[in-house]
Amino acid sequence: MQTPEIYELIDLDRYPLNDLDSEAGQSLIAETHASLEKAGCCSLPGFVRQPVISEMAAQASSLEHLAYSGPGEVTPYFFNYNLGQGVEVPDDHPIKRKGRRNLAQVATDLIPQQHLLSMLYYSTVLPDFLGAVLKQPVYRNQDKYQSLNISMMNAGGCQQWHFDSGRMVTTLLLQEPDAGGIFEYVPELRSDESENFKQVQRVLDGDTRRNQQIELKAGTLSLFRGHYSMHRVTEVKGNRTRIQAILGFSTDPNHKGSLDSSILHYGPRVAELEGR
Ligand SMILES: [Fe+2]
Repeated sequence: MQTPEIYELIDLDRYPLNDLDSEAGQSLIAETHASLEKAGCCSLPGFVRQPVISEMAAQASSLEHLAYSGPGEVTPYFFNYNLGQGVEVPDDHPIKRKGRRNLAQVATDLIPQQHLLSMLYYSTVLPDFLGAVLKQPVYRNQDKYQSLNISMMNAGGCQQWHFDSGRMVTTLLLQEPDAGGIFEYVPELRSDESENFKQVQRVLDGDTRRNQQIELKAGTLSLFRGHYSMHRVTEVKGNRTRIQAILGFSTDPNHKGSLDSSILHYGPRVAELEGR
């Protein structure tokens, strides 16, 4: 049962998540579904109302001292060491190509439950909506550290070209930077059948022909199939921090990430907490 306050966070005139069975609700679901199928992504600008998003950003900013930088150089496949294991590849092969990653993340367990972002994430509103869009039940991830994250990028911040391990990622931009920090992607670059290393290498070498960009504004909720579409965030410019929340949902009711990955991304305190 929803507490009524949750709906005060969302622009219900544009996104009637309180009444998905209505005509407007059904057409929102259909449009979102179609956009995901066609383009592999869907942006919902102004999803979180303006005064609310400013407050969410302020609350997130107050956690910046808890954000951990993690690795500064990463391949497009992160730490999927199984990929290409035992195979001899040249140094310029995508599985060996590291790109610069300059951001810091606040792990789930460090985000207070009473923050507006937590209120949104832990309500049933988003899983219900995403479930309707994907036409199957959707659950919050169950990982202590990875489920809900806040990613911070200051001037010079960026994220290297990469594929996500999850099938779909849901993000909410809390604060846009003065300039740069643009989300760029290459749709459907790989598939379950093929890693398509040749085309991946071309993009890493600077071929921009298939690149698409989305200029996100604070308050935009984005759904993105980052498992197949390689993507990056261009360098942030100016003084204002780019702040983005990553909201982990899955069709697996028990989804958890690996502890190795959590230690790498959130730091030695996780190893300590987990007795490693
Ligand atoms: Fe990603």
